[in-house]
Amino acid sequence: MGESYVDMILWLCKLGEASLRVNPTINIQIPVTVLIPQINYPSGPIQLKMPPNIIRLMPPLGVGTFRLKDEAVQQALKNALDIGYRHIDAAAIYHNEKEIGDVLQKIHASPSQTITRSDIWITSKLSPYDMKTPRTSLLKTLASLQTEYLDLYLIHWPGMARKSSSSPENKKLRIQAWNILNEAKKEGLVRHIGVSNFTSQHIQELEDETEYGIQGLFVQMEIHPWYWRDAEEIQKRFEPKGASVVGYALLAEGKLLGEHMRDVLDEIAERLESTRVQVVMSWALKKGFGVLVRSTSMSHLRQNLDAASLVALLTAEDCAAIDNMSSPDGEEKRCWDPRLVK
Ligand SMILES: NC(=O)c1ccc[n+]([C@@H]2O[C@H](COP(=O)([O-])OP(=O)(O)OC[C@H]3O[C@@H](n4cnc5c(N)ncnc54)[C@H](OP(=O)(O)O)[C@@H]3O)[C@@H](O)[C@H]2O)c1
Repeated sequence: MGESYVDMILWLCKLGEASLRVNPTINIQIPVTVLIPQINYPSGPIQLKMPPNIIRLMPPLGVGTFRLKDEAVQQALKNALDIGYRHIDAAAIYHNEKEIGDVLQKIHASPSQTITRSDIWITSKLSPYDMKTPRTSLLKTLASLQTEYLDLYLIHWPGMARKSSSSPENKKLRIQAWNILNEAKKEGLVRHIGVSNFTSQHIQELEDETEYGIQGLFVQMEIHPWYWRDAEEIQKRFEPKGASVVGYALLAEGKLLGEHMRDVLDEIAERLESTRVQVVMSWALKKGFGVLVRSTSMSHLRQNLDAASLVALLTAEDCAAIDNMSSPDGEEKRCWDPRLVK
């Protein structure tokens, strides 16, 4: 399954390809305007219903770099790129952009490697500590990552670090930052821009109160079976503006992996001969979200990449059962909560 998905990722990286035969067993026929591609694996077709920017531009499955330092981040990225990941999620606040830049340089320079900068999607984020200096911070990130452009630059958080979440200055700063990110995009320093951990309300303000609006916006946010309705609401509400949603903390900060009673995830995983993590990842992909997972383990990286092959096998009943692991009034957010930021 792994190799098949590597092929699919390679396809997803190719902009505007109308039809591509990647190996004798996989025939991909996709008119550029169709948003629901059909990928014919020997085992049957895979349907990925995703927003246009994810399908056309961004490999939907990315590798995270949070909490990975020094050699650990470099090894994790080498492993990930070796087996076919082409989407790296970074952030200034993770304090490892220099290490990431170094390893990418080494990979590009290696005579045995064929991966060039343009093969890889790199996301980074404006630190909440740098809300007053977005351009300087972006230039620092570009220098650390040793690249001339980012594929995606996000405002990491709707507020300023060390400022009260109720301060009206938060709104002023994020609107100002959004304008500066738009200017950086015009300049070619970043190809796409977006926000992370913004609520619907925060996003609506960018639409209503900036001259640039939010066309083509990317939104990165927490998504897992115990907290997914806000992401779905943002996806539906801003889809007409070309918005794409990418999920993090798919494993709910470990809750998904902890000691549990046997539950719906195990039942589905057993039937599909897969794992709980793969089931959750394919559930998120099937909802049209991009997904980010971090791993230092080669076998987990492989397993996570294979999750896309399950999308076609997950039934509507499976998805409803996973949806119902939380109720609309009982959702459990695990990470930081932007709903508190004014
Ligand atoms: N925008 C934001 O505010 C924000 C917030 C959080 C995260 N993110 C991004 O999203 C990425 C992912 O989130 P995260 O790093 O917090 O955590 P995560 O990916 O949800 O979880 C990582 C943990 O899951 C384990 N794991 C991964 N795959 C597994 C598998 N198949 N089976 C069992 N365990 C598995 C990893 O252990 P092993 O190393 O042993 O595999 C690691 O301990 C981050 O790295 C970051 O890039 C963004």
